Amino acid sequence: MIIQPQIQGVVARSCHPFGCQAAVSEQIAKSRTQQSSSDALPKRVLILGASSGFGLASRIALAFGPAKADTIGVSFERGVSDKGIGSAGWYNNIFFHQAAEQEGLVSTNIVGDAFSSETREQVAKAIEQDLGGQVDLVVYSLATGIRPNPETGEFWRSAIRPVGETVEGYSVNFEKNSLDKISLPPATEQEIDETIKVMGGEDWLSWMQFLNERNLLARGCETVAYSYIGPEHTHAIYHKGTLGLAKTHLHHTRNGINTLLESIEGRANIAVCKALVTKASVFIPGLTPYLLALYRVMKDKGLHEGCIEQMNRLFYGKWHDAADRDTEGLIRIDDWELRDDIQLEVNALLAEMTPENFENIGDYQGVLGEFLQLNGFAFPSVDYNQDVDIDALKALHP
Ligand code: NAD
Ligand code: NA
Repeated sequence: MIIQPQIQGVVARSCHPFGCQAAVSEQIAKSRTQQSSSDALPKRVLILGASSGFGLASRIALAFGPAKADTIGVSFERGVSDKGIGSAGWYNNIFFHQAAEQEGLVSTNIVGDAFSSETREQVAKAIEQDLGGQVDLVVYSLATGIRPNPETGEFWRSAIRPVGETVEGYSVNFEKNSLDKISLPPATEQEIDETIKVMGGEDWLSWMQFLNERNLLARGCETVAYSYIGPEHTHAIYHKGTLGLAKTHLHHTRNGINTLLESIEGRANIAVCKALVTKASVFIPGLTPYLLALYRVMKDKGLHEGCIEQMNRLFYGKWHDAADRDTEGLIRIDDWELRDDIQLEVNALLAEMTPENFENIGDYQGVLGEFLQLNGFAFPSVDYNQDVDIDALKALHP
């Protein structure tokens, strides 16, 4: 079978396994060259949301960088079936595992709903059997639109909306190669509450409580969750909108987890990341024009980073310098994005951007390329005319 990209709006309905393999290999190569002078690197790591974006990059950085960590990765992905080829994250899991095994590293993939108690039990068992009973680091990198409410069996659903005002703007459509005008009405109280349930800190705390009660956290264990704040230009849609309120909740949760971990001298961290093209971020209406402008300016200045560059800089740069935190104690790997000179140029580009000129004003080809690569397409090293053997794919398991 020949696999083609199938794009609907901002969602890819197909993925290319060989391209996913190329993506994992490229990231591994970028972590192998890292150096660290710290002798306190985490050796046993649990990653929640390990199959794509920042979670996958964290796993690769920690396994193939100087930490040489054994890892357990939890994700929600699907394999090949009558319905289709499966999801990119499914293949990322498979090819990460193959590479880790070759390297002599422990790598366990657990595919299931991270919100469920069954998955918590599976993780507990895996930490005991595969990691010797405890972890040194828990990376919390879930991004999702729904979370089951265990009391009702129904779902909380996030809504990406402004709060208190209607926002007019543009959103990129990768299917039509267009910049579409959008108008986002303010969130209702219920939409605000449910977004905080889905993307706030409650589940992070609950995971840490579970692992702590089971004595699965090593002395000095750390945890990190990822956040976004962004510049003034995106505040109406992000920082002051529903997602931002959920992130503020996440930031406060750090204090609760720090209290929880006091007895084992553990620590909770928030890393504020840069805006990047991921499966989750292209869903945020109004953010994509900003990404087009940001990519252009940061590339021009030689400061562009993808997920793997961000995670390498986090774990082998910022992490061990306790002084390298902002006044709220957050780790800022959005520091380059928010530089005044960058934002000045970004704002100038955004002021000029229209549905007619966005492909030239912004880095549309670069953003589209990264979007395609998330799903295994657009890798120069992959021969996309090559036949993909579906039965061979069915035999692969994460
Ligand atoms: P992503 O979509 O690439 O990754 C999400 C991961 O969560 C995947 O591994 C997916 O399988 C997993 N997942 C989703 N629902 C799950 C479930 N129910 N059970 C188990 N696994 C599940 O997203 P991302 O952009 O890497 O986001 C990760 C974190 O980084 C989020 O907190 C996000 O807000 C934050 N962040 C993203 C950006 C950005 O620009 N992309 C910037 C700053 C912070
Ligand atoms: Na992730």
